[in-house]
Amino acid sequence: MIFRGWFVLGLSLATVGSLGAQTSAPSPTLADHPWWRPAVIYEVYPRSFADSNNDGIGDLNGIASKLDYLESLGVDAIWITPCYPSPQKDFGYDVADYTAIDPMYGTLADFDNLVRQARAHHIRVLMDFVLNHTSDQNPWFLDSRSSRTSADRNWYIWRNGKAPGQPPNNWISDFGGSAWTWDPKTRQYYYHYFEAAQPDLNWRNPAVEKAMFDVARFWYDRGVAGFRLDAVDTLFEDPKLHNNPIVNGEMVNKYNDNLTENHVVLRRLRSLSNQYDAVLLGETWTDNISQLKQYYGEHDNEIQLPMNFMFATINKLSAPDFRHQIDAIESSGEWPVYVITNHDMERSYNRYGDGVHNDQIAKLMAALYLTLRGTAVMYYGEEIGMSNNDPTRLEDVKDPLGRMDWPKNKGRDGERTPMQWSDAHNAGFTEGKPWLPIPASYKTHNVATELADPDSILNFYKALLHLRRDNPTFASGDYVDCDPTDPNILCFLRSYQDHYAVVALNLSSQPQTLSLDLSRYGWEAGTDSVLLSTMPQPPTNLRHATLDPFAVVIFQSNP
Ligand code: NOJ
Ligand code: CA
Repeated sequence: MIFRGWFVLGLSLATVGSLGAQTSAPSPTLADHPWWRPAVIYEVYPRSFADSNNDGIGDLNGIASKLDYLESLGVDAIWITPCYPSPQKDFGYDVADYTAIDPMYGTLADFDNLVRQARAHHIRVLMDFVLNHTSDQNPWFLDSRSSRTSADRNWYIWRNGKAPGQPPNNWISDFGGSAWTWDPKTRQYYYHYFEAAQPDLNWRNPAVEKAMFDVARFWYDRGVAGFRLDAVDTLFEDPKLHNNPIVNGEMVNKYNDNLTENHVVLRRLRSLSNQYDAVLLGETWTDNISQLKQYYGEHDNEIQLPMNFMFATINKLSAPDFRHQIDAIESSGEWPVYVITNHDMERSYNRYGDGVHNDQIAKLMAALYLTLRGTAVMYYGEEIGMSNNDPTRLEDVKDPLGRMDWPKNKGRDGERTPMQWSDAHNAGFTEGKPWLPIPASYKTHNVATELADPDSILNFYKALLHLRRDNPTFASGDYVDCDPTDPNILCFLRSYQDHYAVVALNLSSQPQTLSLDLSRYGWEAGTDSVLLSTMPQPPTNLRHATLDPFAVVIFQSNP
């Protein structure tokens, strides 16, 4: 098979995966990194990945059936969003039992089988750990709400109202309305940062920490390699329940978000995880780099991989904006964690796409974050250019966020649609009725069709992932911005030991020229060659290179 459209050092497609071995110098090794640092972690939304029993909902056996695909794609681990027993009010982020599997997804035996099979495919499994809150159907909460004197009352946050009919303070739920819900039976309010069906645990109660750490042990003992930690910013609240300030008409969550106590728990969870050599991947929403830095811990003793959402939420193709965020994390001294899309945000295909060049832009975005130093977190379907399929009628909306604020906010159903495996009925996801409608794009953007197309987004992702795996320059090398002033081209030099690469990305819709002299970095003029490109005839000389609109060219210097 030949990769039409890419110029890969004159190599055939079949050899792309071993480019690192093509260089004459010995391949650098990554012995000094734990596995998760250069890793690519692939997020699986289990309801939507693959349905093995045709009930319209994806399941664990479905995931297991796609391990060959994931291995050949080149990912190192999968993070499975919550598959615990749940009333599915927030599609699993309302956990009723932390140490079981919801029957709709399978059994614990299926889970064990998935971990075993994944291991045979060199893929690790991360679970999603919902620390901040449980379902209101969790037996812990049922007991807690049963009476003011119940043994578990203090596992959640119960308070009297400020006055009859008035909640304890002005805090607002992320899902709308007051963050307090009145319980008529025990005549107190309980607190929920998210939906009313997701009461917050009281992390000031040591019994809560003990129970949750036991949950972590339970999954570690089953072979889980780590956790993605949900909503870690909101574990603690001000015990005095001060009202939050309102600034310019907006509430600032000063007293229930980002409290320093969060870090104490994270340090203890990290110690526990260290006993299992496990990794913590954090859902860490931060306003600036110093907040993000805190999540790593002062002595690298909190979350190894706090996700950088400041990068992820740059919602336009802006070289200066991306450069700014890359510089910020690079100069922080921490290990970056890049992500461009997930189950809570509009798909990157739509967010960055201009409606005309979306496929090219999908490759451009892939090349941007997968060639940077750090860990990368992908979202299922990103690699085939899946697009959002937002509901058009309120009655079709499944996500509580979409029902709350319709039609201003259409919710998150659009980015959670079934994986598009082929152009067959229901995109090959199920023989039943899929729980969310399949976007029309499945006819062209699906795994089977794209595997057969050398120019597809999927084959570009595969080439990038294999390049990244085989050549540590990308995931681990040093980073230098080649031209910090260029408004259109993002171009960075990567070096690892005596290996050099330059990634040149044209983020604009016009051709752009590049003129680089990198001799001061040890890059000898005239030694350039192209490792990977989206251009059929890519430039081969960094001193005079013209990049097509939205083009990717990855150069290497031949020693
Ligand atoms: C973050 C999760 O990613 C999101 O889907 C969920 O709604 C909230 N946390 C609440 O658990
Ligand atoms: Ca199923």
